[in-house]
Amino acid sequence: TKVAILISGTGTNLQALIDHTRCGLSRGEIVLVLSNKEGVEGITRAEKAGIYTKVIPHQKFESRESFECAVTRELRSAGTDLICLAGFMRVLTGGFVSEWSGRLVNVHPSLLPMFKGIGAQRQALQAGVTVSGCTVHFVAEEVDGGAIITQESVPVLPDDTEDSLTQRIKTAEHKAYPRALEMLARGEVVLGEDGRCINSTII
Ligand code: GRF
Repeated sequence: TKVAILISGTGTNLQALIDHTRCGLSRGEIVLVLSNKEGVEGITRAEKAGIYTKVIPHQKFESRESFECAVTRELRSAGTDLICLAGFMRVLTGGFVSEWSGRLVNVHPSLLPMFKGIGAQRQALQAGVTVSGCTVHFVAEEVDGGAIITQESVPVLPDDTEDSLTQRIKTAEHKAYPRALEMLARGEVVLGEDGRCINSTII
């Protein structure tokens, strides 16, 4: 399975996916790391790993559609089977989402469907939950609303700050995302016509 990873920043999830796919047992191969921001750490990580990278600054395009058209061109020429969003900070249009439906996934720092959108960790602290975590999900047009592939929980501690909770959740993401990638690459989970996951390991 040829995997493209879309990033906008630090890329610690990207690193976890690089390390995982290099372990020798993975069915996934990262063929492209694409960023909409220049000079981000994630691009350096990919270059160090010898992976093909591409920066497409979204400000240079007059519309979301024309930006996405340029992204799609790169994805296609890399032979992409699966797109993993990993801290990619652009909302994708319905057109892009439906074009890649079932082959486009994201990681979100909460146990969805709780705390959708930005500031999920802050939302968790404000709500006073004692458990939070991360979710890897198929991307649907509704932001953070797609079918859940896998989740990993972490405790929320009484003295947690947004930073400490973010770090703990990231550690969980670094386990969950490679696991999800492998489930997808092995065809163990697919997106059904009804927008829900079909998990072949439990059929
Ligand atoms: C993660 O917290 C992820 O849940 C969110 O963006 C962040 C990316 O972090 N979607 P990193 O760039 O992988 O370190």
